[in-house]
Amino acid sequence: MADNYLEKRFEEFRHPEKKPVRKGGPSLDSLLLRNRSTRGFSHGRKVSEDELLRIVEVNTRIASSKNQQALRFKTVCDEDGVALMNANIKMGALFRVRRAADPSVPEQDCPSLPLPGTEPQAFIVVYGTHPEDASLDIDLGIALQSMSLKAVEMGLNCLMIRAFNREAMLSFPGTEGLFPLAVLAVGKSAERIFLVPVEDAPLDYYRKEGVHYVPKLSLEKILL
Ligand SMILES: Cc1cc2nc3c(=O)[nH]c(=O)nc-3n(C[C@H](O)[C@H](O)[C@H](O)COP(=O)(O)O)c2cc1C
Repeated sequence: MADNYLEKRFEEFRHPEKKPVRKGGPSLDSLLLRNRSTRGFSHGRKVSEDELLRIVEVNTRIASSKNQQALRFKTVCDEDGVALMNANIKMGALFRVRRAADPSVPEQDCPSLPLPGTEPQAFIVVYGTHPEDASLDIDLGIALQSMSLKAVEMGLNCLMIRAFNREAMLSFPGTEGLFPLAVLAVGKSAERIFLVPVEDAPLDYYRKEGVHYVPKLSLEKILL
């Protein structure tokens, strides 16, 4: 077998004290757990252009339908760009709906997001080189998740945003003729977020005393 694999394993078995320490990064499970949609960011931790580029770079290594690679990326972390982005994105639609249905719901449990002073200060805008179709949307999902996981690996968090003003995203230079598909807000989380295992609806995320909870269906429930 290549690399003397069996011999090495046998040596490890005979001499466990000599077993090499494998220095690994965080496991995929831990990245996935930390990869929560974040709608409040610490302004004390600036995200640099270089960090955004490292996140975008994962797109040079991911799957793509027919290998079309029709996604393009604009990084935004300058003052004017950030102001434009924050004026043209929407967060926490479920809270908006709930507030409209029941105005007596406590503000802390159903806030208008982002909370003042926690607005995202760095973004990646994703464009398509052609109009949206099913293959491009699947590529988009792979890209957004891959970038989010990279951000988490770097100690940051993201929010995937599809509720945004598409026209506004075309005001950036170099975006002529492109099709805005999604926005990724990036930053250091200022939120406390927990997953809650559930067996059924309701699946709406909710807040209690400032903590954000996200219900997730169990393996048993999703397995056919
Ligand atoms: C394709 C997609 C689009 C989304 N768009 C928005 C959005 O516009 N605004 C927002 O606040 N959250 C948005 N989200 C975040 C979801 O609300 C979030 O994934 C969900 O509440 C589950 O939370 P979790 O990501 O922490 O598991 C989007 C998520 C996905 C996958």
